[in-house]
This record gives sequence, structure tokens and C-alpha cells, in this order.
Amino acid sequence: MPPITPAGYAFIGLTAIVAVLVAILVFAVLRFASAARDTRRHGSGSMETALLSAALQEAVSKLKAQEQANRARAEASERLSEQIVAGLTSGLLLVGVEGDVRILNPAARRILGLQDAALPAPWASLLGPWPALAGVVGEGLRSGTPIIRRAVSVGTPARPLHLGVTVSPLAEAGVTGQGAICLFSDLTSVVALEEQLRMKEALARLGELTAGLAHEFRNGLATIHGYARLLDPATLEEPERTYVQGLRDETTALGEVVHNFLNFAKPQPLTLVPLDLQAVVARAAEDAGSDAVRIAVAGPFGEVEGDEVLLRQAFSNLIRNAVEACQAAGVAPVVEVVGEAGGADAWVCVTVRDNGPGFAPDALERAFQPFFTTKASGTGLGLALVQKIVVTHNGRVWATPGAGGGAEVHVQLPRPRG
Ligand SMILES: Nc1ncnc2c1ncn2[C@@H]1O[C@H](COP(=O)(O)OP(=O)(O)OP(=O)(O)O)[C@@H](O)[C@H]1O
Ligand SMILES: [Mg+2]
Repeated sequence: MPPITPAGYAFIGLTAIVAVLVAILVFAVLRFASAARDTRRHGSGSMETALLSAALQEAVSKLKAQEQANRARAEASERLSEQIVAGLTSGLLLVGVEGDVRILNPAARRILGLQDAALPAPWASLLGPWPALAGVVGEGLRSGTPIIRRAVSVGTPARPLHLGVTVSPLAEAGVTGQGAICLFSDLTSVVALEEQLRMKEALARLGELTAGLAHEFRNGLATIHGYARLLDPATLEEPERTYVQGLRDETTALGEVVHNFLNFAKPQPLTLVPLDLQAVVARAAEDAGSDAVRIAVAGPFGEVEGDEVLLRQAFSNLIRNAVEACQAAGVAPVVEVVGEAGGADAWVCVTVRDNGPGFAPDALERAFQPFFTTKASGTGLGLALVQKIVVTHNGRVWATPGAGGGAEVHVQLPRPRG
């Protein structure tokens, strides 16, 4: 084998260097390719994650928007039901299954005078001052059956209150016990109007029935009285003198009864004019008072539309009764007539108050009935006439024991409209 020349050595060296370079290049290419493969693989994974998280975020925000809309809808419907309950002109009272009053709307608070009642409160104690209403609610709760428009009177003579009550039982799923929704309307003005109408009709019928009879009776009485007067007791012997005197006294007394009764029973056409009520009351006080008996008159009275003659007669009857009651009990009469505006000025209430013994227990109920009297010489038509006059003026009259003893008679008259 020929020796290797320097050029050969140079060639071999060069070849080796080239081989090493090629190997390095191949290695670099292979590393690059694997790196590129890795990059490609890792890059697609993070894209999937990004897509997934974007979709999730979108779903979450959609859910949130839906939840907000639902909450707004629920709030709006709650507000609406609150507005309906608050705006009802009828009273609404809701008793929960545990027996507490949960809702008492503004109308219920106003009608029952329970403006400041704190809720929840046990229904029986909350309605304690209104036993008749509590009775209906209790019945509805016990029976579990509806009570429809039951008429209930819960007021006092001074503040009559008539309610139309509906109770609907209320059961909660899965809860033992019975609740109820109670709706009630104030029918006081309707009942008062009915009562006025009934009384006016009864008085009109009485007037028609008795007018003819009383007229005949009065004629007969006048004849007896006339004959009795022809017999002069002074010229008569006993016992005839006593008989004739008795005849005269009785016919005089009977004549007065018939006169009063006719006055009471006859139809009374009203002459309505605007009146200064204080002046009318002052004149009545003059009629019924005397120098020895002072009648105090204190306002405000204001103006009413009325018949001056009749109203004056009504108030002087009341003042006369007050004075007579005191005198009969041996008390120096202190009689006050006090005017008071009420019902947002829709009516005026006049109270005649005295310091006498007050109404006898059975007299309070019957005082306004014709012919009811506890006096030996009374006809018992005074208060009946007062009632007739007040009712024909679309008013109301009632009697109560006085706050500080004595008697009180209250007359309520409507104020002119407009
Ligand atoms: N102020 C009063 N205090 C106490 N009792 C009264 C008072 N006013 C009326 N009464 C009672 O009411 C009854 C009826 O009164 P009313 O005015 O109708 O008739 P009277 O006064 O008895 O008779 P008349 O008015 O015909 O004289 C009276 O008899 C009396 O018992
Ligand atoms: Mg009288």
C-alpha cells in the first residue's frame, strides 16, 4: 500500500471534519423537529382550555343575568302584592297557621283603630277590644270553612261600627294548624242610612195611622172638657165637687198628651235654611233655662242646614230634661251644651251634659221610645220628638252616662256639603 501523502492526510482530516459537521447538523435537525412536534402538541391543548373556559364564563354570566331577572321579577311581584294589600279599602287581616296576625293592612288598622299595633301578634289578644270580630275569626279558624259576608256590630253607642266580615281558611302544605284570611268592610254609614230610612218610614206610617184617630180623640176630649168647665166646682157639694175637679184635671192632662202626641206623630215638612247652630242652641237654652238655672254654651258649632223651629224645640227638650233631672234629684243644675266638629268636618256633634243622677239603667235603652217616662207628670214624648227631628235632619241622637256622672245626650248633625 503506497504511503499516505500529506494531501491524503489533509483529505482524510477534511472528510472527518465534514462527517462531524454533518452529524451535528443531523442532530440539530432532529432536535428541532422534535421541539416543533412538542410545541405543536402543547399549543393545541392550551387553546382547548381557553375555549372551554370562555364557554364556561359565558354560561355563568348568562345564568347570573337570568338570576337577576328572576329576582327583579320576584321583587316587582312582591311590590305589586304589597301595593294591592296597602291600597285595599277593605280591612285585611292574615292569621298564620301558628295563630299570629302576620298582615294588618292600613285600612284594617284605620277601621279598628290599631294604627300602632306591632306584628306579629296573637290574633285573640290583638282583636281583644273587638270581641264580635274575634268571634267570627275564631269560628273560621276552628271550623276551617269559609264565612261569607257576616254582619258584625263591634262599636259603642258613641262610635258605632258595623262590619261585613268574610273569613277564608288558609292551610299550609305540610304544616299542621289552620290560618285564615279575614277581609272586612266598614258598613257603618250604610247601616246608619238604613236605620234612618227605617225610622223615617215608621214615623211616616205612625203619622198617617194616628192623625185621623188623634183628631177624633181630641174632638171628643174637647167636648168632655167643655162640659166639665160648665160645671163650676165652687157651686157643687162634696163629693160631686171632687169628681168634677178630677174630670177637669184629667181632661187637661189628656189634652196635653194628645197635643204632644199629635205634635210628635204629624208629618213634619222641613224648612231647611243655613243656620248658625250656636245661635239656635243659645235660643233653646233661653227657652229652657231661667234666671236660677244658667246653661253654658261652648262651641265650635259652625253652620248646619236645618229647620230652626224644630232644632230649637229639640235642644230645648234636651235642656229641659237635664234641668228636670237635676231638680228631681235635689241638685242645683249645672247644664252644659258643647259643640264639637267631627269626621273631617263632615258633621257636628252637640252634647247636652248635666250633673243630675244620670239615666236610670233601663231608661238608657228605652229613653227614645214614645211614652217612656219615669216622671209622674211626663208624657214620655220629649226624647221621641228629639229623635224624630234629628233623624229628619239626617242626623243621629244617643244617650250615654256622663264621664263625670250625670247624663249626656249627643246629637250628631251633618254639615252642608261643598
Ligand atoms: N238628662 C236626663 N237625666 C236623667 N234621665 C233622663 C234625662 N233625660 C231623659 N231622661 C229619662 O228619659 C225619660 C224620657 O224622657 P222624655 O223627655 O222622652 O220624657 P219625659 O221627660 O219623661 O216626659 P216629657 O218630655 O213629656 O215631659 C225620662 O222620663 C227620664 O227617665
Ligand atoms: Mg222630657
